[in-house]
Amino acid sequence: MRILITGGAGFIGSNLILHWFKHHPDDIILNLDNLTYAANIDFLNPVTSNPNYRFIQADIVDRNHLKDVLREFIPQGVIHLAAESHVDNSIKGPEIFVLTNVLGTFNLLEECRQLWNKDKLTFKENRFLHISTDEVFGSLESGSFSEQTPYRPNSPYSATKAGSDHIVRAYHYTYGMNAIITNCSNNFGPNQNNEKLIPTVIRSAISRDKIPVYGNGQNIRDWLFVEDHCNALDMVFHKGKSGETYNIGGRNQWKNIDLVNKICDLLSDILQYNVKEQISNVTDRLGHDLRYAVDSTKIERELKWRPAKDFDTNLKTTIDWYLKKREHSPLTQQII
Ligand SMILES: NC(=O)c1ccc[n+]([C@@H]2O[C@H](COP(=O)([O-])OP(=O)(O)OC[C@H]3O[C@@H](n4cnc5c(N)ncnc54)[C@H](O)[C@@H]3O)[C@@H](O)[C@H]2O)c1
Repeated sequence: MRILITGGAGFIGSNLILHWFKHHPDDIILNLDNLTYAANIDFLNPVTSNPNYRFIQADIVDRNHLKDVLREFIPQGVIHLAAESHVDNSIKGPEIFVLTNVLGTFNLLEECRQLWNKDKLTFKENRFLHISTDEVFGSLESGSFSEQTPYRPNSPYSATKAGSDHIVRAYHYTYGMNAIITNCSNNFGPNQNNEKLIPTVIRSAISRDKIPVYGNGQNIRDWLFVEDHCNALDMVFHKGKSGETYNIGGRNQWKNIDLVNKICDLLSDILQYNVKEQISNVTDRLGHDLRYAVDSTKIERELKWRPAKDFDTNLKTTIDWYLKKREHSPLTQQII
């Protein structure tokens, strides 16, 4: 298959491309990414010389460029991950989130529709998989988010993701596009940008800086290893039903402060000093959602998806990856 992956230089996209070539080596992948601050294309070094891998630097907000790229590559499937993804940035400057997440998703859908619509026979075979977040459902007091939970996004980030989900849904309902949406919980693993919680804890611990924890650290998130998310996306892309949405979560809820303490314990053993002393409570994020939890029963039951390894193993793998990355950075060698 010829598959366009947008945002393939970002955290989940880059892990997905490595996953894809491991499991579907004959597919041809075009990675479309405009390489924002969040991208790390070097993570894809293992596949850059693969003749089935292509990369183009392009902005999904630039519709004319997108049209040219799509008409040249003619994808049979699209996996759409390109987005502005950090809640704090969306609070400081929401406009780029509206442009990228809402307008960019619309551009991609509309150009795919026009391309795929040319051949009425194959129109419904061309799959569009849209990657979204559990944050579109808002904050929970009890229970967990199912596919039926009404959308109540609270941050500019989640509102723009919700907007993009609605457009995808409308393209299925109105035009019959073979589109699927996945809503996943917090991911962790290799190649996540420094701004996110787990890389921040590890980086701050190594550089002996304060480890910032928002408010009293009581916010709860459901954590999923990125490779498990990639595996779920692979299954949904190949076996998911057109027009459906699938929630993906780790059944693995942690209070932020408990997770930070756990990582600090693991790091204290490795670094041989008490990392916990560096924990520092900082002013809470505006409108900080208290709790997310995802009910993944549907994908577990219908597609037989399960996370492959336990949380502790995946957390250790992740910590090892960041420690190795820091070892290879000249600046860090000085800090250590
Ligand atoms: N990280 C998570 O925990 C999580 C959880 C659920 C859903 N998601 C969703 O998964 C997707 C990927 O998340 P991530 O954590 O890998 O994000 P990320 O910020 O690490 O990567 C996003 C990628 O998109 C690219 N990009 C941004 N704007 C673009 C544009 N206008 N045109 C082309 N490329 C652009 C960036 O350069 C980057 O490589 C996002 O849609 C996000 O909403 C993420």
